[in-house]
Amino acid sequence: MKASSTEKSIPGPQALPMLGWRAGMFKLYSEPFRYLRSLHNTYGNIVALAKGDPSYVCAFGPEANFALLSQPDIFAVSAGPFEKLPEDTPLVRIGGNSLQMMREEQHKQQRHLLQPALHRQQIGNYRDYMVALTEHMLEHWQRLTELELYYEMEILTRNIVVKALFGIEDEAEIEQLGKLLQQTVSSLTLALLAPIDIPGLPYHRSMHMAGELENALLALIERKRRQAEANDLLAMLIRTSDEDGARLSDKQLISHTFTLFTAGHETTSTALTWSIFLLGQHPQIFADLLDELEATLHGEAPTLEQLGQLPQLDRVIKESLRLMGPATIGQRRVIAPSYELGGYTLPRDATVIYSQFITHRMPELYAEPERFLPERWSTLKRTAYEYLPFGAGQHRCIGADFAMQEMKVVLSMILQRFRLEYLPGKPLAIDLTMRPRHGLPMRIRPQDRQFRRIPVEGMIAELVDLRS
Ligand code: HEM
Repeated sequence: MKASSTEKSIPGPQALPMLGWRAGMFKLYSEPFRYLRSLHNTYGNIVALAKGDPSYVCAFGPEANFALLSQPDIFAVSAGPFEKLPEDTPLVRIGGNSLQMMREEQHKQQRHLLQPALHRQQIGNYRDYMVALTEHMLEHWQRLTELELYYEMEILTRNIVVKALFGIEDEAEIEQLGKLLQQTVSSLTLALLAPIDIPGLPYHRSMHMAGELENALLALIERKRRQAEANDLLAMLIRTSDEDGARLSDKQLISHTFTLFTAGHETTSTALTWSIFLLGQHPQIFADLLDELEATLHGEAPTLEQLGQLPQLDRVIKESLRLMGPATIGQRRVIAPSYELGGYTLPRDATVIYSQFITHRMPELYAEPERFLPERWSTLKRTAYEYLPFGAGQHRCIGADFAMQEMKVVLSMILQRFRLEYLPGKPLAIDLTMRPRHGLPMRIRPQDRQFRRIPVEGMIAELVDLRS
């Protein structure tokens, strides 16, 4: 895609012959934070991945976030690789019809149908599941001296989301369904790179798993229809209908539950992992938070009412989502004939990347942006486009309240019971979704208040100022 001669050329790195913006995409995945920063520092708020080519453009800062996220008739989400696959296959039925990827009109109606099941009042019903599954994990932790924190958080959040979605009682069944869901999600990346349906290839395997998952979810839907009292998310979605009587079809139920699982699981485990890590690196903040938790909860899990009485915990989560939130970038596709952004013309079909990672580190919005300073939130107010760990606009995270409740329950229970201390090993590498690539090993002790900062090596030092 070339800009016409009268349009201002979008600045950016000189493209390598043949590769164009693809070299930039590679960098975005291989060294995401260094690359995003260097683009922003070198070229400013509007940057093409390949100089002068508007096919792939980064748009940084609150103004760009506002333009991209508040105008769905100009900037649309895109189904990406799913768009090119044959439509009536298990993989597309499960993954390609998700809420995130729907055309705007359909999206509005579907989101309207999903909303009640994720409303603040409804998610209060999942508090007991969250407490019971965390308790179960903590009992197991009593026998450990070391653990891999990211792995533990992944299993916990997986079990919580499966339990909340399907209300399954049997632990083995939760585990089994959770594994099938997770394996299907993990198989997608390789499968979509080469969608060739030949036995032995990743796409074929992924298709097989999606088929198995589809059957398992259909059986669950049938079972739910016979349980009039069930109060889980799937049961709510089955019962739900809008003012015009529109209901979710079985196909929609399947793809929405899959999306909720995918969107709600690794994001929350990553956020929990970094909150615990950052507290470990800031002994005084940890001590103050523990004072609050103990004074309010006395060693117990929070009730729904108490969840609203923990301002320090609120600020700690808010600040760790600012610095180490799992959503670091997002993207939209121009669906209008063209759009003028920051003085440059974006043509139809241009892909535009926005970035929480860059916005949340802008010194004009956040003083000492690299420091973990939860206290800043006792006075600081930021707009929806200046602080956006859950996105903004029509596609803002539908599970944000669920995630906040889950993080508060899990953190308050862990921190009162245990002290986790970073166990130095491999330098910490972090991927574009903030996932610690090789996990996060921790030493675990009963909570004895012996807080101390352990020196850490690796990429984390580029993301957070841990010296002070
Ligand atoms: C800390 C945890 C989470 C973070 C940081 C997070 C972040 C986000 C972000 C940034 C978006 C918007 C993406 C965009 O518009 O470009 C989003 C959308 C979404 N999230 Fe979350 N999320 C989290 C947890 C959850 C949970 C627990 C669920 C479900 C139970 C969930 C379900 C969804 C869904 C369905 C969407 C698509 C909404 C739409 O397109 O209308 N998320 N999330």
